[in-house]
Amino acid sequence: MLEVLYYANWYLRSRFLGRKMPLQSVVFITSRCNLKCRHCAISKATEGGLLETEDFSFQKVKGLLKECHHAGSRMVTFEGGEPLLWKDGDLTLEDLVIEARRMGFVSTSYSTNGTLPIPDSRTDRIFVSLDGTRKYHDMIRGEGCYDLAIKNISESKYRHISVNFVANVLNWECVPEFIEEMAGVKNIRGMSFNFHTPHAGTEDMFLPWEKRSQVIDWLISYKKKGYFIINSTEGLRRLRNNKYVQRCWVTDFVLPDGKRYPYCPGYDEKICERCGYGMGAEMSAVWDFVPSTIVEGLRLFSKV
Ligand SMILES: C[S@@+](CC[C@H](N)C(=O)[O-])C[C@H]1O[C@@H](n2cnc3c(N)ncnc32)[C@H](O)[C@@H]1O
Repeated sequence: MLEVLYYANWYLRSRFLGRKMPLQSVVFITSRCNLKCRHCAISKATEGGLLETEDFSFQKVKGLLKECHHAGSRMVTFEGGEPLLWKDGDLTLEDLVIEARRMGFVSTSYSTNGTLPIPDSRTDRIFVSLDGTRKYHDMIRGEGCYDLAIKNISESKYRHISVNFVANVLNWECVPEFIEEMAGVKNIRGMSFNFHTPHAGTEDMFLPWEKRSQVIDWLISYKKKGYFIINSTEGLRRLRNNKYVQRCWVTDFVLPDGKRYPYCPGYDEKICERCGYGMGAEMSAVWDFVPSTIVEGLRLFSKV
């Protein structure tokens, strides 16, 4: 209930009083990772020596969370690197989740590559990145990663796991098979879909528009059949050609170099036209007050 009031307040203030407040923060807490995924710009940057591999200290993350909260954000997603590798002494990612809650964030989530056991958690949602059926996922993330992720998902005691698929030139064609396969995996509560966003060093993975459109047709049709695809139909439609008003200040970012960005860093990279992040399209539909998108968003972030 508290969440709903906060979201309503945010909407009224930003829409009608013109206050550009973030609703959500994406906070990178480490650049360390145990994988080298073919589509990941962070992996390319650490490999190329452009980014140091480090974990931020608990105090540093706490300070960054405070800044995000002060700016207005009340939903936080922890990112990396691999967030489950994050440590500061005895403190783990779970301590950051608890701290964010204590500070007043109404919703927390994090992504993981699924290669480590998925602990029970007080977070609202965990997204396990799966980029296809076994052959495709392992081609992108490394041999054996698919089986390990499925094992860790199935054995987890945590009850709010979703999978996150990023469609690119290598994996797009397995989407229908992937959806049907995931529907049969124990513990998976939803599937979210994004398209490859061509950050520096990963431009060659961008999926051509006509293939993106084909994937969107598949997703809308599977949604109609009742498969739990988290993206709203309107959000998917907007991703078809990206001809929607992008309001990327709705999410603020703390990047792996520790710098806070009041909007998506893709803007400065001049790649918004080819953006594939579903969240941008969803947020724009929320702003335009598309009821189905709002209902689906509340269902996801507040465990309604
Ligand atoms: C950067 S990873 C970090 C967290 C964790 N290691 C993982 O694999 O989920 C977070 C998410 O971003 C996605 N991602 C990475 N590069 C991307 C890109 N260029 N465009 C869109 N999504 C991307 C990943 O597939 C993953 O789902």
